[in-house]
Amino acid sequence: MTLVEVVQRIVGPWLMLADAAYYLPHTIVGLIRTRNWSTLFSWSRFQSVWFSRFWAYMGPQVRTGVEPIVVPLLKGRVSHGRKLEDGETLETAPLPLSGSVIEVGAGSGMWVSLFKEIGIETPGKDDSDSDVRQRKAAASDVACTSGGITKIYGVEPNKGNHTALRQRVHDAGMDDIYEILPLGVEDIATANIPKADCVVTILCLCSIPSPRENIRALYGYLKPGGRMYVFEHVCNRKHWSIYLYQKFINLFWPHMVGGCELQRDTGRYLREAAPWSKVDLSPLANELWFQAVPHVVGVLTK
Ligand SMILES: C[S@@+](CC[C@H](N)C(=O)[O-])C[C@H]1O[C@@H](n2cnc3c(N)ncnc32)[C@H](O)[C@@H]1O
Repeated sequence: MTLVEVVQRIVGPWLMLADAAYYLPHTIVGLIRTRNWSTLFSWSRFQSVWFSRFWAYMGPQVRTGVEPIVVPLLKGRVSHGRKLEDGETLETAPLPLSGSVIEVGAGSGMWVSLFKEIGIETPGKDDSDSDVRQRKAAASDVACTSGGITKIYGVEPNKGNHTALRQRVHDAGMDDIYEILPLGVEDIATANIPKADCVVTILCLCSIPSPRENIRALYGYLKPGGRMYVFEHVCNRKHWSIYLYQKFINLFWPHMVGGCELQRDTGRYLREAAPWSKVDLSPLANELWFQAVPHVVGVLTK
C-alpha cells in the first residue's frame, strides 16, 4: 500500500464531510427558492433533503469504490471477507442472490442494475411456467436456493431518493418486480409483505434506528434458509487510537451524513441477532488497523 493510500484511508471521512458541507448552502437556497418553509425549519426533513442531494452526487462514486466487493458478494463469490478468485471453488461459499429480496435502504438505486445482471425471473403473459414457479416460490415456507430474482421490495424512507430510484428501476426494465416501500425498516411490518428469500443491506444499517432490534426484525422477515447479504461500515476495534479518532469524527458525521453513525458494531449486532444456521461474515480482507471507516462483508443464513 502506498503512503497516499494510507493517508486517504485516514483522512477519507473529512473529505466526505467537506463534500456534504458543499451541499448545505445549495439545499438551503433550493428550499428558499421553492418556499418550502416546513422542510427548511424541520431538522429531520431538512436533513433528508440535504442527504438525498449529497447522495445523488456521492452515491455513484461510492458505488465505484465498493463494487469490486459488492458485485461478487451478491453473486455468492465472497467468503471470509474476500472475493473468490476466478475459477476458485469453495464448497462452503454462499449462494447467489435469488427469489424474493428485501433491499434495505435502497437509496437512489445504486444496485438496481446489478440485480438485473444477476438475473430476473419475470412472469410473461404467455410464460405460465415461470408464473407458476414464482407463485410457488412466494408461497413456499423455505427459502429458494437457485434461480433468478422474482421480486424486490426496496425499503427507502427518504422520499428525496425516490425519483432517482424509480428512474433506475424503470431504466433496468424492472417496474414489474421492483416495488418501493416508502418507509423505514422499523415499519416494514405495516407493509404486510410475505417472508423473503433474501435480505440485502449495503451501507445502510449505520443509519437505521435501534439497530439491534431492527436487525432482529429483519431476521424475522426471512424464510428458514433465507440469506442476508451484508456490506456495512463499522467501528474500528483493531486500534484504540483509531477508535478514538472515529469517536471524534462522529461528533459531526451523523448530523452531516443523513444520520449515519460511524461507530456501530454492526457485525456483532448481526451475529447476536438470532440463531443463524451459518455465518460467513468477516472484516474486509484488505483493510488494515488504521482504517477510519472499516467494513464487514458476508452472508448470514437463517
Ligand atoms: C448511505 S445510504 C446507502 C444507500 C444505498 N444502499 C447505496 O448503497 O447507495 C443509506 C440509506 O439508508 C436509508 N435509511 C435511513 N434510515 C433508514 C431506515 N430507518 N430504514 C431503511 N433505510 C434507511 C437512507 O435513506 C439512505 O438511502
